[in-house]
Amino acid sequence: MASLDSLFEAARTIQAKAYAPYSRFKVGAAIATPDGQVFTGCNVENAAYPVGSCAEAGAIAAMIAGGQSRIGEIVVMGEGESLCTPCGGCRQRIREFAAPDTRIHVAGPAGIRRSFTLDELLPFSFGPDNLTDR
Ligand code: THU
Repeated sequence: MASLDSLFEAARTIQAKAYAPYSRFKVGAAIATPDGQVFTGCNVENAAYPVGSCAEAGAIAAMIAGGQSRIGEIVVMGEGESLCTPCGGCRQRIREFAAPDTRIHVAGPAGIRRSFTLDELLPFSFGPDNLTDR
């Protein structure tokens, strides 16, 4: 799998490309897949505010378009001093393609600030198994 350093750099590179004229809060996300690839995404806002999309959603879309469907680990990089933890919707998006122990690294411009497991951010989650376990 790609190194955490290279994943951090990939998140920083894509963060700079974010389209965030309304919030002025640029976010980048980089996913490492188990086969060694890296997929990235940034937030893309819209004048019709609710139509905007998160960086994590873009990275997941790139991963699926690239033929991969497992998140090995993910770095999310935001701006400012506070932790840019994935929003509730993105925790669920990540959940679809990750395991409870999959690591979610929250970064600022200078480096990783804190790392979580998916299960820490989304306990008792609902996933594909809930639909088949009947
Ligand atoms: N945003 C993300 O892209 N990912 C997150 O994890 C948190 C928030 C974006 C959405 C919106 O474009 C901007 O950050 C402010 O909420």
